[in-house]
Amino acid sequence: MDVDAIREDFPILKKRVHGKKLVYLDNAATTQKPKQVIEAIKEFYSDYNANVQRGVYEISEKATELYEGGRESVAKFINATSSKEIIFVRNATEAINLVANAWAKKNIGKDDEIIISIMEHHSNFVPWQQLAIENNAKIKVVGVDPEGHFKFDEYESLLSDKTKLVAITHVSNVLGTITPVKEIVKKAHEKGAMTLVDGAQSVPHIPVDVQQIGCDFLAFSGHKMLAPTGIGILYGKKEILEKMDPFLKGGDMIKEVHLDSTRWNELPWKFEAGTPNIEGGITMKVAIDYLNRIGMPNIREHEKKLTKYALDAFANTKGIDVYGPRNVEEKGGVVSFNVQQIHPHDLASILDEEGIAIRSGHHCAQPLMENLGLVAASRASFYLYNKEEEIDILINSLKKARKVFRLE
Ligand SMILES: Cc1ncc(COP(=O)(O)O)c(C=O)c1O
Repeated sequence: MDVDAIREDFPILKKRVHGKKLVYLDNAATTQKPKQVIEAIKEFYSDYNANVQRGVYEISEKATELYEGGRESVAKFINATSSKEIIFVRNATEAINLVANAWAKKNIGKDDEIIISIMEHHSNFVPWQQLAIENNAKIKVVGVDPEGHFKFDEYESLLSDKTKLVAITHVSNVLGTITPVKEIVKKAHEKGAMTLVDGAQSVPHIPVDVQQIGCDFLAFSGHKMLAPTGIGILYGKKEILEKMDPFLKGGDMIKEVHLDSTRWNELPWKFEAGTPNIEGGITMKVAIDYLNRIGMPNIREHEKKLTKYALDAFANTKGIDVYGPRNVEEKGGVVSFNVQQIHPHDLASILDEEGIAIRSGHHCAQPLMENLGLVAASRASFYLYNKEEEIDILINSLKKARKVFRLE
């Protein structure tokens, strides 16, 4: 992988912050965009901006064709059996809410159980917590071991005939833990439960094949994989989506409307009410073409190398606590840590002065933070354009911060 050549495609990486070169290590929050994506957005608005699915005129037909091309491209990227299984939404959060409202509300009732893990992002926690409150169902939570691995034995012991849904993250946005989703799904299906995988931190970084995993639903966001904000994806098995009623109702999601009745549109449009994020759908293909050109297995290898480099560097630096698995085979490109006696928010401000962008806080995973006994943590997260020398800059700045706080 020629990282220097890749970096040339990302205009923002040339930016200077407080007079220093930008070191962008907050890719789990959102990724930067290559010029190919930026150009494609510009081209849409300059050359063929029109609404989709309705106009019988050239630029609308072109917009529709490219928007649907984006859907085809997403379907191939995750190996869905058909583009009918790809619903465009705003983000992973909306995808999960769609399932909560359009499937779970009707199918999960009193004393039924939903299994999640303690690692869930609030997006894959709050919708289930609230649904359980509304429908008198129960939430069961699978814990992690001291290194942050998913406790599979505990999961097996929680599964029962009452389990109606297992909703689990594929990669933790805090610990980086990769969960054994294929085995999780298999066990859930043996009990007749439905499965949802939160792929927000996996689809952009590791090859993901929904047929191999076997999950019923997969949720992820375009903005975490080089595409713009405002475009997300819900994958669902066709036979399940077909049985579900729509979540949002209005224009585009209908076949016919009469004064006293409405017939829903076919998949996937049944779930896409109103004018969608057209440039988002179109540029999903551009982003995916970019990732495929580099190769997802190469991206994964590159992130493993960076993660190992970072873990070794942290281990050789005084006064740093690191959370999550140490073996990069079991971990995505996410390293959460604390510098002892420095609050992560103070640390993030000091690093900002050095041009380094990392995340600090609870990472929208408060139940996990409580479980770890932490109020906040810092997080460095990597992508295809990051380099080892950026990790060196981070480590040197951490050492500097320790000096500022007179810890060295
Ligand atoms: C694991 C995980 N799930 C879900 C989300 C929600 O993504 P979005 O804010 O794009 O809806 C995130 C965002 O950071 C995440 O890390």
